[in-house]
Amino acid sequence: MVAVLVPRLRPFTSTIFAEITQLAVEHGALNLGQGFPDTDGPASLLADAQQAIATGANQYPPAPGLPALREAVAAHQRRCHSLSVDPDDVLVTMGATEAIAAAVIALCEPGDEVVVFEPYYDSYPAVVAMAGATRRTVALRAPDFQPDPAELRAAFGPRTKAVLVNTPHNPTGTVFGSDTLRAIGDLAIEHDAVVITDEVYEHMTFDVPHVPMATLPGLADRTLTISSAGKTFSVTGWKIGWVHGPAELVAAVRAVKQFLTFAGGAPFQPAVAKALGEADYPAISAGLRPKRDLMVTGLREVGLRVFEPRGTYFVVADLAPLGVTDAAAYARAMPAKVGVAAVPVSVFCDDPDLAPTLLRFAFCKRDEVLLEALRRLAA
Ligand SMILES: Cc1ncc(COP(=O)(O)O)c(C=O)c1O
Repeated sequence: MVAVLVPRLRPFTSTIFAEITQLAVEHGALNLGQGFPDTDGPASLLADAQQAIATGANQYPPAPGLPALREAVAAHQRRCHSLSVDPDDVLVTMGATEAIAAAVIALCEPGDEVVVFEPYYDSYPAVVAMAGATRRTVALRAPDFQPDPAELRAAFGPRTKAVLVNTPHNPTGTVFGSDTLRAIGDLAIEHDAVVITDEVYEHMTFDVPHVPMATLPGLADRTLTISSAGKTFSVTGWKIGWVHGPAELVAAVRAVKQFLTFAGGAPFQPAVAKALGEADYPAISAGLRPKRDLMVTGLREVGLRVFEPRGTYFVVADLAPLGVTDAAAYARAMPAKVGVAAVPVSVFCDDPDLAPTLLRFAFCKRDEVLLEALRRLAA
């Protein structure tokens, strides 16, 4: 037996997601831990993919992605964010996850540092470790989960190669405004670092705009912008994502992606291309808002301290008012005790003291599921 995971990756073998899912199944609990919708995307999108399979889109697509999809991504960025993007500078990836991994691996070597905000999306620290680089974390604290300017500055240094920004932010639901993004961008410029922005929840904001980092003056030429169809169109299992940015940065990401997956998702790419052109984007947030309001109100009525999210389909709540001191232990007990599953925010943190009593609930579920979950929590 020689196959042992290298030490730097061992911290990422935590099985808490799998464990909670397993407990949810065992106890017939409603799973608000998993960050995906319980209804599929638009019928026309599903039919287009079926049609693509039926008409032979089943072999490798072009490595950079189907031209129609790259053009659709560029058109989407122009229409939604007034960003001018050349379709040649768009790379289609296997979800945002591959784009993030390929970007970090392409840019970072051992000794380099990547600035990451915590709590973080769980793939970030893992891919930084895979690249052999070091993460420097900046805490996002309740109640507003915005970075402290001094801590942000302190995270940057001579070894900073990249900063990974996620807005709207999973798990906290915070949205970074122009001032915060400007501060991050100025530090990236000062330290000649690349900005990697994960904007998969770009169409899920409530009362605040989503500001893509690349729209800020002086940042487009050092920013890799990443998004994906999974969240926007409720097809998380399709894993169709994309990255765009300056030609030389995208070429570096493409060089890594070539040897990760080369290409994929052939029948999904034309379907997503069409959907990107036709979608009613404001309807996405409008559809989620009543679910957010339902959960925020319902969790408050249960006695939790709730941090109303400005974006994403997650809401974070504090169990401290109920006397709970360890949300992770509580989350493990919840499927059996309450019949509802949720994820402790501490699994997304390096610092065990940052969010010990916080839980994340996903509200991208059918109303009847949310209502029943709230009923169980109240009981
Ligand atoms: C912040 C963030 N980035 C990326 C992803 C993954 O995106 P994809 O499924 O397109 O790989 C997720 C999924 O939960 C996410 O929350």
